[in-house]
Amino acid sequence: MAEGQELLLRKDLERVVNRLHQERTHVAPYQEDYRRLLDNHGKMIRAAMVILFARAGSRNKGRLDNTVITGAAAIEMLHLATLVHDDVLDDAPIRRNKPTVHTIRGNKAAIYLGDLILSRYMEIMASIAPDTAFIREQAGTVCEIVGGELYQESDRHHTHITIDDYDRAISGKTAALFRLACLTGIRLDGQPTDTGLERTARDFGSNLGMAFQIIDDINDFDLDRDTGKPKLEDIRDGIYTLPVLLGFQKDENFRTLVQQDDPDQVVDYFRSHPQLMESSRQTARDYLQQAADSLEGSPVDKGVRDLLQRITAKLAAQV
Ligand code: FPP
Ligand code: MG
Repeated sequence: MAEGQELLLRKDLERVVNRLHQERTHVAPYQEDYRRLLDNHGKMIRAAMVILFARAGSRNKGRLDNTVITGAAAIEMLHLATLVHDDVLDDAPIRRNKPTVHTIRGNKAAIYLGDLILSRYMEIMASIAPDTAFIREQAGTVCEIVGGELYQESDRHHTHITIDDYDRAISGKTAALFRLACLTGIRLDGQPTDTGLERTARDFGSNLGMAFQIIDDINDFDLDRDTGKPKLEDIRDGIYTLPVLLGFQKDENFRTLVQQDDPDQVVDYFRSHPQLMESSRQTARDYLQQAADSLEGSPVDKGVRDLLQRITAKLAAQV
């Protein structure tokens, strides 16, 4: 069952890649940069969520409507727009194993290119929206993402922030987009609102998104794992993620050490206190388990449910 869905998903994602490749800008001097950004897609997990939740109801058994593929491409574009801005803010030299656009074209052009991708995301979503509630949901989620970033900014270099503060920031900046991806799938499949399917999409997406950001934050300290982007960015920028916050809770001396702004010392501390990373990993696995649990007894199609469970299990095994 799940194998069949996996094959369908692979084919649908190829269509999303093609759809992204068809994207054009009329701004001639930046056409190549725009092209390069859209062609250098990541694993497209958010697009996969749009597709799988479009297949979660009873309607979509065969070839997916172009609208869903377009919606999945647009969700990836929203994600990409946030990354382009994020890389300028972080002054990150690489992303997805390629030089970032601001290192080639400068910060101003990169910000405008991020804005252009964001505007196209809005234009595309407006052109396929089944109703105004759909647009409100998209726009409201963009507000949540920016809000999450602002919470993170207001907490920067604060060594007394709590895990609740961290959760608030990551649920806005990351989990909200995962939730939106799942909801976009069921909306584009024309499923009625306020159903068991909608509740599952919200729960699954939010929990997967929380796990995803915690794993990303753990990997930022894992110097041996190739993530296609720089390491130790968060601690260098004064962004205190879960392993650091757990360290603050356990040891007052660690707080003093972090205040010295020497990332190598923090890495050494984690090496000598492996339980901090292990406990962070366990939190990520718990979120993944909650995502999987949200599918139990839900109206999600059996083949799709099996595949979603496989995806969460695979992620949990890699943490
Ligand atoms: C990556 O997180 C960044 C995000 C999850 C969101 C970034 C959002 C903005 C900059 C808001 C404004 C942008 C738009 C277009 C609305 P990370 O820095 O933790 O991960 P990384 O290691 O991949 O950089
Ligand atoms: Mg970043």
